[in-house]
Amino acid sequence: MAQQSDHFKKVVAHCKEYGFIYQSSEVYDGLAAVYDYGPYGSELKNNLKQYWWKSMVQMHENIVGIDAAIFMHPKTWKASGHVDAFNDPLIDNKDTKRRYRADQLIEGYVEKIQGKIDKDVAKAEKRFKENFDKEKYLAESPKVLKYKGQISEVMDRFTKAMSAENMEELKAIIDDYEIADPESGSRNWTDVRMFNLMFSTQLGNIAGEEGKLYLRPETAQGIFVNFLNVQKTTRQKIPFGIAQIGKAFRNEIVARQFIFRMREFEQMEMQFFVRPGEEMKWYEYWKEARMKWHLALGHPAEKLRYHDHDNLAHYANAALDIEFEFPFGFRELEGIHSRTDFDLSRHQELSGKKMQYFDPEVDKNYVPYVVETSIGCDRMFLATISNALVEEQVPGQDDPKNVRDVLKLHPAIAPVKVAVLPLKRNDERLVKAAKDIYQRLSLSHNCQYDDTGSIGKLYRRQDAIGTPFCVTVDFEHLDDGTVTIRDRDTLSQERVSIEELERIVDERVNMRQLFL
Ligand code: GAP
Repeated sequence: MAQQSDHFKKVVAHCKEYGFIYQSSEVYDGLAAVYDYGPYGSELKNNLKQYWWKSMVQMHENIVGIDAAIFMHPKTWKASGHVDAFNDPLIDNKDTKRRYRADQLIEGYVEKIQGKIDKDVAKAEKRFKENFDKEKYLAESPKVLKYKGQISEVMDRFTKAMSAENMEELKAIIDDYEIADPESGSRNWTDVRMFNLMFSTQLGNIAGEEGKLYLRPETAQGIFVNFLNVQKTTRQKIPFGIAQIGKAFRNEIVARQFIFRMREFEQMEMQFFVRPGEEMKWYEYWKEARMKWHLALGHPAEKLRYHDHDNLAHYANAALDIEFEFPFGFRELEGIHSRTDFDLSRHQELSGKKMQYFDPEVDKNYVPYVVETSIGCDRMFLATISNALVEEQVPGQDDPKNVRDVLKLHPAIAPVKVAVLPLKRNDERLVKAAKDIYQRLSLSHNCQYDDTGSIGKLYRRQDAIGTPFCVTVDFEHLDDGTVTIRDRDTLSQERVSIEELERIVDERVNMRQLFL
């Protein structure tokens, strides 16, 4: 993982140290770009999925959920275009034997030039101080204009080569601009060739090509082929949606940046079936709705932005990404795509079965158009945890040594909602009382009982896994039945009765908070 920012390194280390994410098969030195979620990671991931499912399925009368199989009839992938066109351009370095995506090498080159512009602007800003006019400088500085010219020259050639799938031209760009292997600096490249990203396997009872199966590279096709089953069995009327959460597999050539680009990952996708001609209205609706969903979780607005696709896929008439500012820069977090009637029409063509809907309002049969929202669950996890992890001075303490790592997760998605801690672990009465409270709260929430260290140490550990509330059972409890509840972010402590404690916790960690 080259060029990691310090924060990113910290996020990766934190995920491992606190049981959020482990490298898959670590005892065998791991499997590249495959990861396992540990105890806190799986809780957090489940909560993110629940938040998505609740807002997309349970809170929309006209959206229903399914859980389709990972294996699908091989014709599915012919129809969807994945067999012929789900390719990345790859290039090998002959010296290092390392494999790269040619498009990413070129984009990396452009990012480097952009970096020079940013550096130049920062220098000028320092020099001219309050007299600095950034807009004017960007528009007039000869140095900046030279760099901008270089970027548009490369990007122009690159966009044309990508849309024409011209591999020779991609290679020529790499040669002409002397783009080197980022690891070794070598420019000894092979030709660029297309590489299909689908994993394949074989059906047990059919030999050869006919028995070839693919692991689905997106969950969406399980929705498309079930469109009529679902519509008929749920009597939904257009517009309506079908949602699904499930695994997807892509044999990514360059799989770096931790769980950002994985070979096995999870998607949360929703296909919204609409009347042809109304797709842009729904595209705008979902664009807004999905951004609100992200903001409600507490992600700062400045870390989220829309990015319209420059090159539309042949089946789309509009597409954008919701990008998030990961520790390594703004990258795609979610895609919103207006996919026209491409997928249903293709399945109709290859299966010979009608994929039409009778619309009583217009008295017509038609193949519906589709607006899709598609988000990677793991990418959402990375966005959430990298935004939440903060190293800060412990509130109210001046000693610079008193810093803490805290995961400032929204309480509704925190892996553990409440930690119950006896003030003294060798006092049987306190231990028993704390365990009773833990049992009681566990009926409704994921809680923890912990007496393995001093209270200060236990608080730090709960901060690091993002537990919003710690309940301390002290000697006063034995007299009046009260406990203290400590807030993770403010460190304020309230003394409350057990009934109040249950009410406070129920209210503050409820997923309802995300929809108010
Ligand atoms: N059905 C449309 C579709 O699959 P996509 O833009 O290829 O569109 C949608 O993928 C989302 O899936 C992305 O925005 C990203 O969050 C996630 N995703 C895609 N490839 C991924 C990978 N290799 N690892 C992790 N997440 C990935």
